[in-house]
Amino acid sequence: MKSAEIRAKFLEFFKNRGHAILPSASLVPENDPSVLFNTAGMQPLVPYLLGQTHPQGKRLANVQKCVRTVDIDDIGDNTHATFFEMLGNWSLGDYFKKEAITWSYELLTSKTEGFGFDPKRLYVTVFEGDNDAPRDMEAVEIWKSVGMPENRIYFLPKKSNWWSAGNDGPCGPDSEMFYDVTPNGLGDLTHDEYLKADENRDVVEIWNDVFMEYQMKDGKVVGKLSSKNIDTGSGLERVTMISQGVNNIYATDLHIDTMNKIKGSSTNYIEKSARIIADHIRASVFLISDGVLPSNTDQGYVLRKLIRRAVRHADICDLPQKTLIKLAENYKNIYKDVYKNIESEWTNITQTLLAEEEKFRQTLKDGLVYFKKMSAGSSAGVFSGKDAFILFSTYGFPLELTKELAVENGLQLDEKGFNENLKEHQAISRAGSEQKFKGGLAGTGEMETKYHTATHLLHQALRTVLGEHVSQKGSNITAERLRFDFTHGAKMTDGEKKKVEDLINAKIKESLPVNMVTLPKTEAEKTGALHFFGDKYGDNVSVYFIGNTLDNAFSKEFCGGPHVTNIGGLGTFKIQKEEAVSAGVRRIKAVLS
Ligand code: SER
Repeated sequence: MKSAEIRAKFLEFFKNRGHAILPSASLVPENDPSVLFNTAGMQPLVPYLLGQTHPQGKRLANVQKCVRTVDIDDIGDNTHATFFEMLGNWSLGDYFKKEAITWSYELLTSKTEGFGFDPKRLYVTVFEGDNDAPRDMEAVEIWKSVGMPENRIYFLPKKSNWWSAGNDGPCGPDSEMFYDVTPNGLGDLTHDEYLKADENRDVVEIWNDVFMEYQMKDGKVVGKLSSKNIDTGSGLERVTMISQGVNNIYATDLHIDTMNKIKGSSTNYIEKSARIIADHIRASVFLISDGVLPSNTDQGYVLRKLIRRAVRHADICDLPQKTLIKLAENYKNIYKDVYKNIESEWTNITQTLLAEEEKFRQTLKDGLVYFKKMSAGSSAGVFSGKDAFILFSTYGFPLELTKELAVENGLQLDEKGFNENLKEHQAISRAGSEQKFKGGLAGTGEMETKYHTATHLLHQALRTVLGEHVSQKGSNITAERLRFDFTHGAKMTDGEKKKVEDLINAKIKESLPVNMVTLPKTEAEKTGALHFFGDKYGDNVSVYFIGNTLDNAFSKEFCGGPHVTNIGGLGTFKIQKEEAVSAGVRRIKAVLS
């Protein structure tokens, strides 16, 4: 089956079982500063898994765009990807284990309604039990009832069979499905043989059913959720790989044209580099389409790293310069019908890729000047680890490049010194990122909620003061401030900033209420409510409006909340900073006091 058929088949299967189909949310979580990207289908649904009512109902299914960077060193192997799509079905306090397991099995193995995979190549793992939750005999019984032989069901500890995203939020034991990808099939396996097969990657995880009934706080299970939920996730790339009978995701229809193009254009083809290029360019296309731009912090830094790594590996393969844009074009063709903003953002995508490549090449040039200066002054034929680290951190020189240059110049690189500098740096940035992630998912604290509502006020005030061309490009909220990116061609004058502040503060003084209505999408659009981030909304949407009635509201936006109920308590709004993010996009940082 083609990947497009798999996507469609998955959604059709769950639609036929009463699920509302949701479009993918943006890769960049809205109003959730605790994570850089959506890394699983459940992330945009956290408020609903915690008990909020979803406007589309209790049974949902979607294909969610995800980016995971923890696996970056595995990229190039057969199955890991930075960007991937996760197929998922959801029960919000509706069905539980029986339906989830039965449907997973049916969809994987049915030749008519499903993917038609060979049941003899399936293995299943379940949670072995501990102080937080019992050994999952219930799941075992259900697996047996659908036809899974007991000797292919393995009990594993929390490390393997428990899902939570971060240290806070909904979580629970899970049951994972693995598929035997060896040419001749492994047959029945003992517990230890199964573990070995997993380690050798002879079996590949293709689906995870999470029985989400617990809540976690600071990494500890603290109790049960208000309802028992189901969160399932299956990687489209892996399912496609198995369906197409190939042993790696790069040989599927999602990547094969790109891989062939790299092969055809390079004079020094290296498979692993080619895979890294393909993976990173695809991820970059998607990130830019969702509004990320290269920078030195947060999402922008990840994008920068991906593009630069792709350029580096393109050079290793001796690809002609500017080939990356042509590769990006392949991905546009493959995904444009599913993710409309790839086409609408296309000019931005190509310009960003080209500009970043150029910038990186300039940095490489500058780095070379630094290298020459340092090597001329080096003592005893050694190029110092500290300088190698500066080349790495400031000029983006990978260690291998510095090593090559050192050898060419008759020097020996102090790798030990380099590693020490690197470790020190990593310890510092780890401390920083722990800080960043400590809040767990979905910032729903008092201040975050206030800033969320203030963001709606700012959005409308900017449109009133600067014009209707202003539209949201990004938003990031912490308990300390809001950050808002929007389209506008010029630096705001002091007068304009003051007008925006005055307008917002005047509205706060009016103590307007914040209301929410759920409407069919077409009706919601007719109200003139603002909505952004492409096509992520479902058939029914929540519209938050600030004012007494929807008609006379000061601000109306499609949004998932949470918001304060009255703006009277927001305090005083003040713009702290207004600056450019990229051509035509401005950023405001503002505080409430
Ligand atoms: N959240 C689980 C996962 O990502 C299932 O969707 O594996």
